[in-house]
Amino acid sequence: MDPVFLDWLTLLLRFLHVITAIAWIGASLYFIWLDLSLQTPDADKLERGLGGELWAIHGGGIYEVGKYKLAPPAMPATLHWFKWEAYSTWLTGTALLIVYFYLRADVALVKIDGPLVSPSLTIVASIAYLLAGLAIYEAFVRSPLRANATAQLLGLVVLLAGASATAFELFSARAAILHVGALLATIMAANVFLGIIPSQKALVAAIEAGTPPPAERAINAKLRSTHNNYLTLPVLLCMLSNHTPLLFGHPHAWLLVVALSLTAVLARHFFNAKHRGKTQPLILVISALLFIAIAWAASQTNSTVVAPSAPVEISEIQSIVTTHCGVCHAEQPSQPGFAAPPGGYLFRTPADITAQAALVKTSLESRYMPLGNLTGMTDAERAALIQWSDITP
Ligand code: HEC
Repeated sequence: MDPVFLDWLTLLLRFLHVITAIAWIGASLYFIWLDLSLQTPDADKLERGLGGELWAIHGGGIYEVGKYKLAPPAMPATLHWFKWEAYSTWLTGTALLIVYFYLRADVALVKIDGPLVSPSLTIVASIAYLLAGLAIYEAFVRSPLRANATAQLLGLVVLLAGASATAFELFSARAAILHVGALLATIMAANVFLGIIPSQKALVAAIEAGTPPPAERAINAKLRSTHNNYLTLPVLLCMLSNHTPLLFGHPHAWLLVVALSLTAVLARHFFNAKHRGKTQPLILVISALLFIAIAWAASQTNSTVVAPSAPVEISEIQSIVTTHCGVCHAEQPSQPGFAAPPGGYLFRTPADITAQAALVKTSLESRYMPLGNLTGMTDAERAALIQWSDITP
């Protein structure tokens, strides 16, 4: 496909994906807050079967929300469901995965020196990765372990660690961090599709038939919903971090993803407890301090590239830049599949490198650039260019 059109298509899908994700996560955060903030209603409402009430002001008015302990006496004419926010986020995300990573699997998906060399094999691995991850999760959430909160937490951490280590083994670093996010988000969408919505349908059917609602289903839906609550922030971390070569290009990226996700889970826990009326600022402080500590530790081992012993001639820098950057980062890239300078960055001369020294250094140290090392840059050339970006102010 025409690379320029492909870029436009990516823009459209990214736009739709972010909009739908905001609708999904926004509604999810709102309902978590709502549910945990409910207060005991007055006697009149209790008598009508309400278990909780909440008053809020937003926009132009004051809202009164009530939650039934079990069910209203009769179903209302209009009942709002929340599922298409989740489904459309997953669908646009999958379309983006195909357009961005599968249609240019050779540069975007394949890991250099990885176990899978062929682009089509890597695409198959990507699909298998998502399906297998989901299957493992489904087995876990239906297993007897579901009754034990500690086992749930440990299980999810092991799942995340396994998913992260596998992704960074199989796919290019940028694709890897996205696959971790995509797997967690697929699990979340499946929780809506396979657990939460069926349970809600059973509840509505039971109310209409005048029979007691199926308790087992509701318990399972509650568990899946709690998992979604805690997975939200790790997913956002992975999705946003594909703009951060510092993280996904790090030699220990898979471990950093797990560690930083746990700080995000702690932060989520703080807010859950706060909505319930138990504010424990220490949890949030620990979460922030842990994030900073991990970031500090990570910054100590940025790169596996060894610095050259002597300064390198500017003519040699020019030749490295021309061969390894200029093929893509030029007004008219000569690299097939590129129609414009990627990211809008021009790197044709040593001065261009100087102008973006910090950004260039990160992208080189993390081995994110040259993309897919398509130009076959050697470690010595990499080290020379890093040194150049270091000595220039
Ligand atoms: C095969 C093509 C290709 C080559 C060769 C290449 N790049 Fe890139 N570069 C890209 C693409 C594509 C992007 C945008 C990626 C993205 O959206 O994250 C990019 C983005 C960047 C960015 C911005 C990263 C960011 O975080 O926003 C920097 C800096 C960069 N390249 C530096 C370099 C340097 C320095 C070289 C030479 C050593 C180089 N690139 C070689 C394709 C290339």
